[in-house]
Amino acid sequence: MAPVPARGLPGAPTRLRRLRRTAALREWVAETDVELRRLVYPIFVRPGAGAAEPVPSMPGIERHPVSALPALAGALADEGIRAVLLFGVGRHRDAEGSDAWAPDGIVPAAVRALKDAAPDLVVVTDVCLCAYTSDGHCGVSDRGAVANDPTCERLGRVAVAHATAGADVVAPSAMMDGQVAAIRAALNEAGRTETAILAYASKHASAFYGPFREAEGSAPAFGDRRGYQMDYRNGREALREMEADAAEGADLLMVKPATTSLDLLARARRRFDLPLAAYHVSGEYAMLKAAAAAGIVPERAAALEVLTAIRRAGADLIVTYFARDVARWQREGR
Ligand code: PBG
Repeated sequence: MAPVPARGLPGAPTRLRRLRRTAALREWVAETDVELRRLVYPIFVRPGAGAAEPVPSMPGIERHPVSALPALAGALADEGIRAVLLFGVGRHRDAEGSDAWAPDGIVPAAVRALKDAAPDLVVVTDVCLCAYTSDGHCGVSDRGAVANDPTCERLGRVAVAHATAGADVVAPSAMMDGQVAAIRAALNEAGRTETAILAYASKHASAFYGPFREAEGSAPAFGDRRGYQMDYRNGREALREMEADAAEGADLLMVKPATTSLDLLARARRRFDLPLAAYHVSGEYAMLKAAAAAGIVPERAAALEVLTAIRRAGADLIVTYFARDVARWQREGR
Protein backbone atom coordinates (compact mmCIF):
# COMPACT_ATOMS: atom_id res chain seq x y z
CA MET A 1 0.00 0.00 0.00
CA ALA A 2 1.22 3.49 -0.83
CA PRO A 3 2.20 5.54 2.23
CA VAL A 4 -0.22 8.27 3.27
CA PRO A 5 1.27 11.59 2.12
CA ALA A 6 2.39 13.77 5.02
CA ARG A 7 0.98 16.87 3.32
CA GLY A 8 -1.89 17.56 0.99
CA LEU A 9 -1.61 17.30 -2.74
CA PRO A 10 1.88 17.46 -4.18
CA GLY A 11 2.79 21.05 -4.87
CA ALA A 12 -0.11 22.44 -2.78
CA PRO A 13 0.88 24.85 0.00
CA THR A 14 0.47 23.78 3.62
CA ARG A 15 -2.64 25.64 4.79
CA LEU A 16 -1.85 26.62 8.37
CA ARG A 17 -4.67 29.16 8.30
CA ARG A 18 -7.31 26.39 8.41
CA LEU A 19 -7.01 26.19 12.19
CA ARG A 20 -7.05 29.98 12.59
CA ARG A 21 -10.38 30.46 10.85
CA THR A 22 -12.65 30.83 13.89
CA ALA A 23 -12.15 31.73 17.55
CA ALA A 24 -13.38 28.25 18.49
CA LEU A 25 -10.72 26.58 16.35
CA ARG A 26 -8.01 28.87 17.68
CA GLU A 27 -9.00 28.11 21.27
CA TRP A 28 -9.09 24.42 20.47
CA VAL A 29 -5.50 24.23 19.27
CA ALA A 30 -3.82 26.89 21.43
CA GLU A 31 -0.63 25.41 22.89
CA THR A 32 0.07 27.66 25.86
CA ASP A 33 -1.92 29.21 28.69
CA VAL A 34 -1.05 31.55 31.54
CA GLU A 35 -2.83 29.67 34.31
CA LEU A 36 -3.35 31.50 37.61
CA ARG A 37 -1.99 28.51 39.50
CA ARG A 38 1.41 29.16 37.90
CA LEU A 39 1.71 32.78 39.02
CA VAL A 40 3.56 34.05 42.06
CA TYR A 41 2.65 37.49 43.39
CA PRO A 42 5.49 39.53 44.97
CA ILE A 43 4.63 41.41 48.16
CA PHE A 44 6.70 44.16 49.78
CA VAL A 45 6.35 44.29 53.54
CA ARG A 46 7.49 47.30 55.53
CA PRO A 47 7.93 47.95 59.24
CA GLY A 48 5.43 50.04 61.17
CA ALA A 49 1.68 50.49 61.10
CA GLY A 50 -0.74 52.52 59.04
CA ALA A 51 -1.87 52.21 55.47
CA ALA A 52 -0.12 50.57 52.52
CA GLU A 53 2.16 52.98 50.65
CA PRO A 54 2.22 53.08 46.87
CA VAL A 55 5.48 52.48 44.97
CA PRO A 56 5.50 55.44 42.55
CA SER A 57 7.10 53.71 39.55
CA MET A 58 4.96 50.57 39.91
CA PRO A 59 1.26 51.42 39.54
CA GLY A 60 -0.88 49.08 41.63
CA ILE A 61 2.01 47.88 43.80
CA GLU A 62 2.28 48.88 47.46
CA ARG A 63 4.47 48.39 50.48
CA HIS A 64 2.28 46.73 53.08
CA PRO A 65 2.53 46.84 56.88
CA VAL A 66 2.24 43.39 58.50
CA SER A 67 -1.15 44.38 59.93
CA ALA A 68 -2.55 44.61 56.38
CA LEU A 69 -1.47 41.10 55.38
CA PRO A 70 -4.39 39.01 56.71
CA ALA A 71 -6.83 41.03 54.60
CA LEU A 72 -4.49 40.83 51.60
CA ALA A 73 -4.15 37.06 52.01
CA GLY A 74 -7.94 36.74 52.02
CA ALA A 75 -8.25 38.87 48.90
CA LEU A 76 -5.57 36.86 47.06
CA ALA A 77 -7.26 33.58 48.00
CA ASP A 78 -10.59 34.91 46.68
CA GLU A 79 -8.90 35.96 43.45
CA GLY A 80 -7.35 32.54 42.94
CA ILE A 81 -3.71 33.53 43.56
CA ARG A 82 -1.96 30.55 45.10
CA ALA A 83 1.57 31.75 45.84
CA VAL A 84 3.39 34.86 47.03
CA LEU A 85 7.03 35.94 47.20
CA LEU A 86 7.83 38.11 50.21
CA PHE A 87 10.34 40.95 50.36
CA GLY A 88 10.98 42.70 53.66
CA VAL A 89 12.06 46.29 54.14
CA GLY A 90 14.48 46.19 57.07
CA ARG A 91 13.75 47.90 60.39
CA HIS A 92 17.36 49.02 60.60
CA ARG A 93 20.54 48.47 58.65
CA ASP A 94 24.00 47.47 59.85
CA ALA A 95 27.25 46.27 58.28
CA GLU A 96 26.20 42.62 58.46
CA GLY A 97 22.51 42.99 57.70
CA SER A 98 21.63 41.31 61.01
CA ASP A 99 17.97 42.35 60.94
CA ALA A 100 17.58 39.92 58.02
CA TRP A 101 17.79 36.90 60.34
CA ALA A 102 16.03 38.31 63.42
CA PRO A 103 13.34 35.79 64.45
CA ASP A 104 10.98 38.72 65.11
CA GLY A 105 11.98 40.47 61.88
CA ILE A 106 9.68 41.77 59.22
CA VAL A 107 9.62 38.69 56.99
CA PRO A 108 9.04 36.12 59.78
CA ALA A 109 6.21 38.34 61.08
CA ALA A 110 4.77 38.56 57.57
CA VAL A 111 4.99 34.79 57.05
CA ARG A 112 3.12 34.14 60.30
CA ALA A 113 0.43 36.69 59.46
CA LEU A 114 -0.14 35.22 55.98
CA LYS A 115 -0.10 31.59 57.11
CA ASP A 116 -2.53 32.30 59.97
CA ALA A 117 -4.94 33.97 57.56
CA ALA A 118 -4.50 31.62 54.58
CA PRO A 119 -2.82 28.30 55.48
CA ASP A 120 -3.01 27.04 51.89
CA LEU A 121 -1.22 30.02 50.38
CA VAL A 122 2.26 28.95 49.17
CA VAL A 123 4.61 31.37 50.92
CA VAL A 124 8.02 31.93 49.34
CA THR A 125 10.53 34.34 50.90
CA ASP A 126 13.38 36.18 49.22
CA VAL A 127 16.65 35.41 51.02
CA CYS A 128 19.12 38.26 50.59
CA LEU A 129 20.79 40.95 52.69
CA CYS A 130 20.35 44.02 50.48
CA ALA A 131 17.39 45.45 52.42
CA TYR A 132 19.34 45.12 55.67
CA THR A 133 23.00 46.03 55.00
CA SER A 134 24.22 49.61 55.55
CA ASP A 135 25.64 49.78 52.01
CA GLY A 136 22.69 48.07 50.29
CA HIS A 137 24.81 45.24 48.88
CA CYS A 138 23.48 41.68 48.80
CA GLY A 139 26.17 40.42 51.16
CA VAL A 140 28.66 41.40 53.82
CA SER A 141 31.25 43.81 52.44
CA ASP A 142 34.89 43.52 53.29
CA ARG A 143 37.12 46.38 52.08
CA GLY A 144 34.83 47.29 49.21
CA ALA A 145 34.07 43.75 47.99
CA VAL A 146 31.19 41.47 48.95
CA ALA A 147 32.66 38.50 50.83
CA ASN A 148 31.29 35.22 49.50
CA ASP A 149 31.55 32.64 52.26
CA PRO A 150 30.67 34.88 55.22
CA THR A 151 27.60 35.95 53.24
CA CYS A 152 26.56 32.32 52.62
CA GLU A 153 26.75 31.64 56.33
CA ARG A 154 24.42 34.59 57.03
CA LEU A 155 22.04 33.61 54.24
CA GLY A 156 21.71 30.25 56.02
CA ARG A 157 20.57 32.08 59.15
CA VAL A 158 18.06 34.11 57.15
CA ALA A 159 16.60 30.99 55.57
CA VAL A 160 16.26 29.29 58.97
CA ALA A 161 14.46 32.35 60.40
CA HIS A 162 12.01 32.34 57.48
CA ALA A 163 11.49 28.57 57.57
CA THR A 164 10.96 28.58 61.33
CA ALA A 165 8.22 31.19 60.86
CA GLY A 166 6.50 28.82 58.44
CA ALA A 167 7.74 29.67 54.93
CA ASP A 168 7.14 26.83 52.48
CA VAL A 169 9.96 27.86 50.17
CA VAL A 170 13.04 30.07 50.55
CA ALA A 171 14.46 31.83 47.51
CA PRO A 172 18.10 32.91 47.72
CA SER A 173 18.79 35.85 45.38
CA ALA A 174 22.20 37.10 46.49
CA MET A 175 24.16 35.26 43.75
CA MET A 176 26.87 34.03 46.12
CA ASP A 177 28.65 30.85 45.08
CA GLY A 178 27.54 27.95 47.23
CA GLN A 179 24.54 29.75 48.71
CA VAL A 180 22.13 26.93 47.93
CA ALA A 181 24.36 24.31 49.58
CA ALA A 182 24.88 26.56 52.62
CA ILE A 183 21.15 27.16 52.98
CA ARG A 184 20.27 23.48 52.53
CA ALA A 185 22.79 22.54 55.22
CA ALA A 186 21.54 25.24 57.61
CA LEU A 187 17.90 24.24 57.08
CA ASN A 188 18.64 20.55 57.64
CA GLU A 189 20.68 21.37 60.73
CA ALA A 190 17.71 23.31 62.11
CA GLY A 191 15.38 20.36 61.41
CA ARG A 192 13.76 22.16 58.46
CA THR A 193 14.26 19.35 55.97
CA GLU A 194 10.83 20.01 54.45
CA THR A 195 11.51 23.61 53.44
CA ALA A 196 12.12 23.84 49.69
CA ILE A 197 14.65 26.06 47.92
CA LEU A 198 13.77 28.11 44.84
CA ALA A 199 17.17 29.18 43.54
CA TYR A 200 17.54 32.46 41.69
CA ALA A 201 19.99 30.45 39.62
CA SER A 202 20.49 32.64 36.58
CA LYS A 203 20.27 36.24 37.67
CA HIS A 204 21.80 38.88 35.46
CA ALA A 205 23.01 42.26 36.63
CA SER A 206 20.23 44.25 35.01
CA ALA A 207 18.94 47.73 34.32
CA PHE A 208 15.43 46.42 35.03
CA TYR A 209 15.62 46.19 38.84
CA GLY A 210 15.35 49.95 39.44
CA PRO A 211 11.71 50.17 40.56
CA PHE A 212 12.27 47.26 42.96
CA ARG A 213 15.19 49.07 44.55
CA GLU A 214 12.96 52.11 44.95
CA ALA A 215 10.39 49.92 46.72
CA GLU A 216 13.02 48.33 48.93
CA GLY A 217 15.35 51.29 49.35
CA SER A 218 18.09 48.84 48.38
CA ALA A 219 20.17 50.57 45.71
CA PRO A 220 23.84 49.92 46.55
CA ALA A 221 25.59 52.90 48.16
CA PHE A 222 28.77 52.29 46.15
CA GLY A 223 29.56 50.38 42.99
CA ASP A 224 27.05 48.01 41.45
CA ARG A 225 26.17 44.33 41.65
CA ARG A 226 28.29 43.13 38.73
CA GLY A 227 30.80 41.52 41.07
CA TYR A 228 28.20 38.87 41.95
CA GLN A 229 25.25 39.05 39.55
CA MET A 230 25.92 37.60 36.10
CA ASP A 231 26.97 39.45 32.97
CA TYR A 232 23.99 39.44 30.61
CA ARG A 233 26.24 38.64 27.68
CA ASN A 234 26.69 35.12 29.04
CA GLY A 235 24.30 32.25 28.36
CA ARG A 236 26.56 29.22 28.80
CA GLU A 237 27.61 30.62 32.16
CA ALA A 238 23.93 30.87 33.09
CA LEU A 239 23.58 27.14 32.48
CA ARG A 240 26.61 26.51 34.69
CA GLU A 241 24.90 28.53 37.43
CA MET A 242 21.80 26.37 37.05
CA GLU A 243 23.85 23.14 37.06
CA ALA A 244 25.59 24.28 40.24
CA ASP A 245 22.35 25.16 42.03
CA ALA A 246 20.70 21.90 40.97
CA ALA A 247 23.72 19.96 42.23
CA GLU A 248 23.64 21.89 45.53
CA GLY A 249 20.08 20.75 46.14
CA ALA A 250 17.81 23.41 44.68
CA ASP A 251 14.21 22.18 44.33
CA LEU A 252 13.28 24.74 41.68
CA LEU A 253 15.38 26.92 39.37
CA MET A 254 14.62 30.51 38.38
CA VAL A 255 15.88 32.84 35.65
CA LYS A 256 15.71 36.61 35.84
CA PRO A 257 14.86 39.01 34.24
CA ALA A 258 12.33 36.98 32.27
CA THR A 259 12.04 38.63 28.86
CA THR A 260 15.82 38.91 28.47
CA SER A 261 16.23 35.21 29.42
CA LEU A 262 13.82 33.43 27.06
CA ASP A 263 16.71 31.60 25.37
CA LEU A 264 17.90 30.40 28.77
CA LEU A 265 14.45 29.15 29.69
CA ALA A 266 14.27 27.17 26.46
CA ARG A 267 17.72 25.67 27.01
CA ALA A 268 17.06 24.94 30.68
CA ARG A 269 13.74 23.29 29.83
CA ARG A 270 15.58 20.70 27.72
CA ARG A 271 18.39 20.19 30.22
CA PHE A 272 16.66 20.04 33.62
CA ASP A 273 13.66 18.18 34.92
CA LEU A 274 13.27 20.50 37.92
CA PRO A 275 10.39 22.98 37.89
CA LEU A 276 11.49 26.20 36.19
CA ALA A 277 10.45 29.69 37.21
CA ALA A 278 10.97 33.05 35.55
CA TYR A 279 10.89 36.41 37.33
CA HIS A 280 9.19 39.12 35.29
CA VAL A 281 10.89 41.90 37.22
CA SER A 282 9.93 45.36 38.41
CA GLY A 283 11.34 47.23 35.39
CA GLU A 284 9.61 44.91 32.93
CA TYR A 285 6.34 45.55 34.76
CA ALA A 286 6.87 49.30 35.11
CA MET A 287 7.69 49.68 31.41
CA LEU A 288 4.49 47.96 30.33
CA LYS A 289 2.40 49.96 32.79
CA ALA A 290 4.03 53.21 31.63
CA ALA A 291 3.60 52.35 27.95
CA ALA A 292 -0.04 51.45 28.54
CA ALA A 293 -0.66 54.66 30.51
CA ALA A 294 0.85 56.62 27.60
CA GLY A 295 -1.47 54.89 25.15
CA ILE A 296 1.39 53.13 23.37
CA VAL A 297 0.17 49.55 23.93
CA PRO A 298 -3.09 48.08 25.26
CA GLU A 299 -2.17 46.89 28.75
CA ARG A 300 -4.02 43.61 29.00
CA ALA A 301 -3.10 42.37 25.53
CA ALA A 302 0.53 43.42 25.86
CA ALA A 303 0.97 41.93 29.34
CA LEU A 304 -0.67 38.63 28.40
CA GLU A 305 1.44 38.40 25.25
CA VAL A 306 4.65 38.79 27.26
CA LEU A 307 3.59 36.38 30.03
CA THR A 308 2.49 33.81 27.44
CA ALA A 309 5.86 34.04 25.69
CA ILE A 310 7.58 33.37 29.02
CA ARG A 311 5.43 30.25 29.46
CA ARG A 312 6.05 29.18 25.84
CA ALA A 313 9.81 29.49 26.34
CA GLY A 314 9.57 26.91 29.11
CA ALA A 315 8.66 28.47 32.46
CA ASP A 316 6.37 26.43 34.71
CA LEU A 317 5.99 29.33 37.14
CA ILE A 318 6.10 33.09 36.63
CA VAL A 319 6.77 35.59 39.38
CA THR A 320 4.89 38.67 38.24
CA TYR A 321 3.52 41.92 39.62
CA PHE A 322 0.72 41.43 37.07
CA ALA A 323 -0.66 38.37 38.93
CA ARG A 324 -3.70 40.18 40.34
CA ASP A 325 -4.33 41.91 37.01
CA VAL A 326 -4.27 38.52 35.27
CA ALA A 327 -6.76 37.19 37.82
CA ARG A 328 -9.05 40.14 37.09
CA TRP A 329 -8.70 39.76 33.33
CA GLN A 330 -9.58 36.08 33.58
CA ARG A 331 -12.64 36.94 35.69
CA GLU A 332 -13.71 39.52 33.11
CA GLY A 333 -13.33 36.97 30.31
CA ARG A 334 -11.87 37.47 26.89
C1 PBG B 1 17.43 41.10 45.97
C2 PBG B 1 16.51 41.09 44.80
C3 PBG B 1 16.38 42.02 43.76
C4 PBG B 1 15.29 41.61 43.00
C5 PBG B 1 14.83 40.44 43.56
N1 PBG B 1 15.60 40.12 44.67
C6 PBG B 1 17.13 43.28 43.50
C7 PBG B 1 18.52 43.23 43.06
O1 PBG B 1 19.12 42.18 42.89
O2 PBG B 1 19.07 44.32 42.92
C8 PBG B 1 14.72 42.34 41.82
C9 PBG B 1 13.27 42.08 41.58
C10 PBG B 1 12.60 43.07 40.69
O3 PBG B 1 13.23 43.96 40.09
O4 PBG B 1 11.37 42.96 40.58
N2 PBG B 1 18.76 40.91 45.71
